[in-house]
Amino acid sequence: MNAEEIMDKVYWVGAIDWEERDFHNFETHRGVTYNAYLIKDEKIVLVDTVKEKFFDEMLQRIEKVVDPSEIDYIISNHVETDHSGSLEKMKEIAKNATVICTKKGKEGLEKHFNTEGWEFKVVKTGDELKIGERTLLFLEMPMLHWPDSMATYVKEQKLLLSNDAFGQHFASEERFDEDIGVEEAVKWAKIYYANILMPLGELVRRKLEEIGKLNLEFSMIAPSHGVIWKNPSVIIEAYSRWAEFKAENKVVVIYDTMWESTAIIAKAIAEGAAQHSEVRLFHLRKDPWSEIMTEILDAGGIAIGSPTMHNRVFPPVAGFLTYLRGLKPKNKVAMAFGSYGWGGGAVKEINRVFEELKFEVLEPLSLRYRPTEEELQKAYEAGVRLGERASKTS
Ligand code: FEO
Repeated sequence: MNAEEIMDKVYWVGAIDWEERDFHNFETHRGVTYNAYLIKDEKIVLVDTVKEKFFDEMLQRIEKVVDPSEIDYIISNHVETDHSGSLEKMKEIAKNATVICTKKGKEGLEKHFNTEGWEFKVVKTGDELKIGERTLLFLEMPMLHWPDSMATYVKEQKLLLSNDAFGQHFASEERFDEDIGVEEAVKWAKIYYANILMPLGELVRRKLEEIGKLNLEFSMIAPSHGVIWKNPSVIIEAYSRWAEFKAENKVVVIYDTMWESTAIIAKAIAEGAAQHSEVRLFHLRKDPWSEIMTEILDAGGIAIGSPTMHNRVFPPVAGFLTYLRGLKPKNKVAMAFGSYGWGGGAVKEINRVFEELKFEVLEPLSLRYRPTEEELQKAYEAGVRLGERASKTS
C-alpha cells in the first residue's frame, strides 16, 4: 500500500473499495474509492479518513510518508461514515491531533463517536489555518450534501479538497481525470450528481456563485470519491449545467410490466418519441436506477408506465416514484401510461407525482388488457407528441 503524491507534499492516502455495489441504494457497479489526503508541512494534516473497514489500508499508506502519531490536525470535511468512519481509530494513534470541522460537523461527530477528550477546532467559511508554507482556507458547504459538509482549500497550491462535491463512484488505480479520460470522468461524475446532488441543484448553483465571488483559482480539485480533476473548469462547468437542468433533446421511457402489455405500450411510445428525439428505454427491474436517473437529469421528456395491481401502481414503479420524488428533477414534459384489467388507477398515481414535481403533464394513456393494433398506434402517436414537445425544451 503506497501513498501517491498528487502535488508537492500532498498525498493521496485513501482506499479502493473494488467490491462495493450498493452505496445506500446507489448502484455502484464499478466500485468506490474513499479518498483521504495527507499534507506534509511544518504541521502534518490528514484531510478526511476512509470507511472503517479500510482503516488499515489508509494507515499503511500514511506510514509510507509520516509517523501517524505525529499528525497535528485531522480535518473532517464531512461526518458521513464513508469519510469519518476511521476517525476514532485514527485518533487513538494520533492522540494529539486536533479535529477540524464545522459546528454541525462537531455535533455529528459527537453523535457517531466517543469524542471524549478530543480537541476540536470549529471553523466557518473564510477561516484560515497556517500550517507552515501552506495556508488552509475552509469553505462551508451546508447541505452539499449534509448540514456539516465543508471543503478545504490549500491556498498556495490552489488545491480544493472538495469532499463529496465533484466526486464519482468509480474504483480505479488511476488517480486523475486524464488517466481515465476526462470525458469518462465526467460521465461518472454525472451519475454521482444525478443520484446524490440532483435535488440540491439550486444550492449547488449558489455555492458555485459564492466561490466565484471569492476569486479562488483552482489548479486541481480533489474530491473524496473517484479521480482527481486536473481539469477543474470541466467539472465546474458540468455542475453549472446540471444544476440548471439544461435539457437535451431526449426522452426517457421507463416502465415495468406484469404480462408484457405495459412493455408493448412503452416500446410503441419510444418508437413514436424517436421521430423527434433521442430515446432511452428502461425496465425498472432490469436496469440500474442510478443509470435511469442519470438519463433523466438532462432529458426534456419522460414517460413512466405501470400496470395496475390491486387498483394501485405496480410496487417496483411505486419504489421508483419515491426515488424520483426525492431527487426532484425539474423542467420535464411528462406522460404516464399503463395497462389495466378492470379498475385502473396506476396512471393517476404517476400523474400525481408528475404534478408534485411541476412537470408539464401530457394526457396519460391507459389501455385495458392487451393493446390492439389500433391502441398501439395511439401509443405511437402519444410518443410522437411527447418527442415533439421534448424537442422544443432543449
Ligand atoms: Fe461520500 Fe456524503 O459521503
